[in-house]
Amino acid sequence: MSVSFCGLQLAHPVINASGTFDLLAANTAFGESLRERFPFAAFVSKTITLEPRKGNPPPRLWEAPAGLLNSIGLPNKGLQGYLANDLPAISELLGKVRAQPPVPLITNVMGSTAAEIAQLLNACEQREEISAVELNVSCPNVKTGLDIGADPVQLEVVVREVRPHLSKPLIVKLTPNTADVAACALAAQEGGADAISLINTLRAMAPGGGSPKPWLGGGTGGLSGPAIRPVALAQVAAAARRVSIPVVGMGGVQSAKHAQDLLDVGATLVAVGTESFRDPSAGSRIAHELSGAAETPANATPDHPGASTLLNLK
Ligand code: FUM
Repeated sequence: MSVSFCGLQLAHPVINASGTFDLLAANTAFGESLRERFPFAAFVSKTITLEPRKGNPPPRLWEAPAGLLNSIGLPNKGLQGYLANDLPAISELLGKVRAQPPVPLITNVMGSTAAEIAQLLNACEQREEISAVELNVSCPNVKTGLDIGADPVQLEVVVREVRPHLSKPLIVKLTPNTADVAACALAAQEGGADAISLINTLRAMAPGGGSPKPWLGGGTGGLSGPAIRPVALAQVAAAARRVSIPVVGMGGVQSAKHAQDLLDVGATLVAVGTESFRDPSAGSRIAHELSGAAETPANATPDHPGASTLLNLK
């Protein structure tokens, strides 16, 4: 089951989607069982921006048919806050995880300009706790996040400009909200990305319930969960056909079958996102199922795998 990804040795092909697993909160909630059965082979941080961000006004979530709409807006402490507080805490915790090989940290960053991204990459380059960087050019919840990633020409220019600032693996996270995702995948590769990850959420809107004002405080949000699984499969397949670098596939993965579908169309790794909100140990369950050591929960059905007991969650 072990996988080589951009020079990193991983115990299995299942990682988390950025922003869907609060490691420090999970440690408080689950403690020792989290460290004993860590759900992911690598851990991807929530997106970090240069300056602190408060995020979008509430409401920030809406339950869609077979999915979740979020308009979180990248709240974070900013680069300095991350480096001073969260990075040491995350790194210490990952050091205590009983996994072999150890779980590397992938820091996810977003900037509005190439100069901002370069500053973020420079900082990540300096910190040995960070094994790789995921560059988010795909957030639908901030004005600047999507623009770079939706245009292959601009994307290639930006990736090429920032690439020299990082010697570690650079993963570019692509948006599904573009006319030709395979062209964006190729642009990221040509610019110098070591891998691509996709899909981020699909831009969507929740109705205002009789009011012309939409439900979400940010106006629109990003749709994730089972509803986007077939879109993810199509876009991961299209991107994987176009590039020679590794692909991290994600979008609506709830079971090993869904993960295997993405691997079958060319993904090297699979990320679990929204499912971790429902079942924080989904990553372990899916990795176990993938390796053939399935421990199917009693409440599982083919489409709804049930909450896993792998973390002994109470
Ligand atoms: O709004 C958010 O915090 C999510 C960002 C993203 O989808 O990249």
